[in-house]
Amino acid sequence: MHFDLTDEQRALRDMVRDFARNELKPIAAEIDEHHKFPTDIVKKMGELGLMGVAFPDEYGGAGMDYVSYSIAIEELSWACASTGVICSAHSSLATDPIYKWGNEEQKKKYIPKMASGEWIGCFALSEPQAGSDASQQATVAVQKGDKWILNGTKNFITNGREAEIAIVFAQTDKEKRHKGITAFIVEKNNFPGISVGKVEDKLGIRGSSTTQLILEDCEIPDANRLGDVGVGFRVAMSTLDGGRIGIASQALGIAARALDESVAYSKERHAFGKPIADLQAIQWKIADMATEIDAARLLTWRAAWMKDGKMNFSRQAAMAKLFASEAAMRATTQGIQIHGGYGYCRDYPMERLFRDAKITEIYEGTSEIQRLVIASSVIRE
Ligand code: CAA
Repeated sequence: MHFDLTDEQRALRDMVRDFARNELKPIAAEIDEHHKFPTDIVKKMGELGLMGVAFPDEYGGAGMDYVSYSIAIEELSWACASTGVICSAHSSLATDPIYKWGNEEQKKKYIPKMASGEWIGCFALSEPQAGSDASQQATVAVQKGDKWILNGTKNFITNGREAEIAIVFAQTDKEKRHKGITAFIVEKNNFPGISVGKVEDKLGIRGSSTTQLILEDCEIPDANRLGDVGVGFRVAMSTLDGGRIGIASQALGIAARALDESVAYSKERHAFGKPIADLQAIQWKIADMATEIDAARLLTWRAAWMKDGKMNFSRQAAMAKLFASEAAMRATTQGIQIHGGYGYCRDYPMERLFRDAKITEIYEGTSEIQRLVIASSVIRE
């Protein structure tokens, strides 16, 4: 066993770190303040290979592994968590299911455009009445000849406004519950009957869009069915396993930034005649933050390594997301405490980190759902 990154992984980390710190960090507050989707940044990320890190060269990807992808999402999120989730939802939730479940024609048609960032992707599973209980799909798909007609509303869709490609789940046989769900690749701007509904005004990750998608007699060719009829729930669940590694990495980036900001501030700020970094009350907080970040990173990289090794990693991805997101919440809470009144104000990035951290405990499965996934796997064993 060894804990070293390979030369390739280290080179990627250094490249993304430079990009994130020089180009993204200076505009992250503005992105947050004005709900601004970072179009130019996403374009550059495409040019750098960051919109398709873990997909093979033959489909236009960077040909790297999922550990590298995790590193890239952490580094981006350190600078701007909105950009981190834009990349993560696009890569893990939209491109990855096409790579894993698509036929050769679908892979050749969609992955190169997505890996280059030309087409952004989103994942449309949640509905107004189906969040944690994802199998309760009210969206229906009815087959008519070589087409499917979809009707329904999808909720809380990351990248919903910018996406060209949506992975949409619908009930094709209500009687069969989760075994009657089917997945589709929907070209949002080419297929008739799909539109963007409400755009949410959020507490954090305000640079990424979160929208409803409305399907009204949306016509989808059977050639765009992703996987067999009735296997859609498995497509969704296995996709979310990989997505949870992306969100764990995002949480890790937020937590690592909170620690870096807190250490820097505690060396500058004086109280009782010395830098507050010399006070044990501050040191204990920093020690806890650093320890939890290390633990979260090890859990996250282990899950990514297992995915690379084609092992079953559902439990480990859930553990990584659960621990990293809760560690990010604790790190940002303590980070604000270390900054005192300044941490509560917008002149410092701490309050944005705190707002951004909260969603990592909610999307792609709440902490409660992660505990459910972990417990059922442990008990079944
Ligand atoms: N991989 C493959 N198949 C899986 C699986 C996995 N990880 N987990 C479950 N399945 C299969 C099971 O094997 C079972 O198949 P069979 O019936 O053929 O044996 C089937 O799915 C049903 O399994 P369960 O009985 O465990 O399913 P359930 O209805 O009880 O739900 C759940 C389980 C864990 C609660 C699941 O519904 C879940 O993960 N909920 C949370 C959903 C979620 O994360 N939503 C976030 C949406 S994306 C988002 O956040 C927006 C965004 O844009 C970022």
